[in-house]
Amino acid sequence: MIATAARRTTMMFACSGVEDAQWLDALRKALPGIDLRVWPDIGNRADIDYAFIWRPQANALDGLSNLRAIFALGAGVEHLLADRSLPQAIPLVRMIDPSLAIGMREFVLLRVLHYHRRIPEYEANQRLGRWVKLVPKLPGEQRVGLLGLGQLGTTCAESLVGLGFDVAGWSRSKTTLSGVESFSGVSALGPFLARSDIVVCLLPLTPETDHILDRRAFDAMPTGSHLINVARGRHVVEADLLDALDSGKIAGATLDVFEDEPLPAGHPFWTHPSVTVIPHCAALTHPVTASRTVADNIARLERGQPMIGVVDRLRGY
Ligand code: NDP
Ligand code: OXD
Repeated sequence: MIATAARRTTMMFACSGVEDAQWLDALRKALPGIDLRVWPDIGNRADIDYAFIWRPQANALDGLSNLRAIFALGAGVEHLLADRSLPQAIPLVRMIDPSLAIGMREFVLLRVLHYHRRIPEYEANQRLGRWVKLVPKLPGEQRVGLLGLGQLGTTCAESLVGLGFDVAGWSRSKTTLSGVESFSGVSALGPFLARSDIVVCLLPLTPETDHILDRRAFDAMPTGSHLINVARGRHVVEADLLDALDSGKIAGATLDVFEDEPLPAGHPFWTHPSVTVIPHCAALTHPVTASRTVADNIARLERGQPMIGVVDRLRGY
């Protein structure tokens, strides 16, 4: 790659909540010759060509007059879109990382199989010292519904189909994934939920999907169904979910994401017998693969090709 003898391509690294050293090492390996500057020690702001960010410090991107692209470390960028201090005319690229997809697929399969094979009932029986064999449904009788059939939802759907589950997906546009029944648009949400014994949320958080899993949604789901939320906490109205769990309408929930993170001490989810709390790590962006993804996008931009994962700011994802 990279720049002329006179000037090296320069990237600002402004991420919080991650292991800086691992990321810097991986970025340097994927982008040999890059001048990587860690915020706030970024020198002359006009030198910066690219920004690599995650929950950046306030106004970290101010005055980057030669910025060409902003790369997000994660896939869900609602918090970056809400930050009006981000330069609006510069492409914002979300993370499409193979290891993120692999991690999400593993986690979703793990939890779907957990409910499908009735593990919560065995755990309850163990506490009572009961030796009882429970017949699982046939996979084809287990209706799994994926809210969101994008990068992550699609790979989960394909693997669930491979295991023989009865799989459907809900998205904005109609999809044609082999073996996956497609539901699209607001009017199809109720029928989609009504046919789903296990609902997996993999939607981006947008004004349209904010608090989409509310009392009405839980009422639409079959009695005794399960929820796996691996998208964003604000997709769920937490009080409505607690009511649905307490009434038995929803038999169990796996929650990786919450309105407030870390989940506050004393929150009822911590101790609810039907809730599994995971600390927002269903899938983690891997520094090595993600850095290669960023390098590939920079090469594309420099060749004049479209980058992969550019966020549509109007659509919100
Ligand atoms: P994509 O943008 O690839 O896919 C989004 C999907 O949601 C698409 O199928 C899209 O429909 C659908 N969608 C968006 N808005 C609506 C709507 N209003 N109604 C119906 N469907 C809608 O996202 P990813 O698969 O890459 O990621 C999904 C989310 O997962 C991220 O936004 C992030 O919040 C979360 N995430 C969580 C992680 C964790 O560890 N917990 C890790 C990584 C991501 P269409 O195809 O028609 O556009
Ligand atoms: C993401 C996440 O959006 O980790 O990538 O939640």
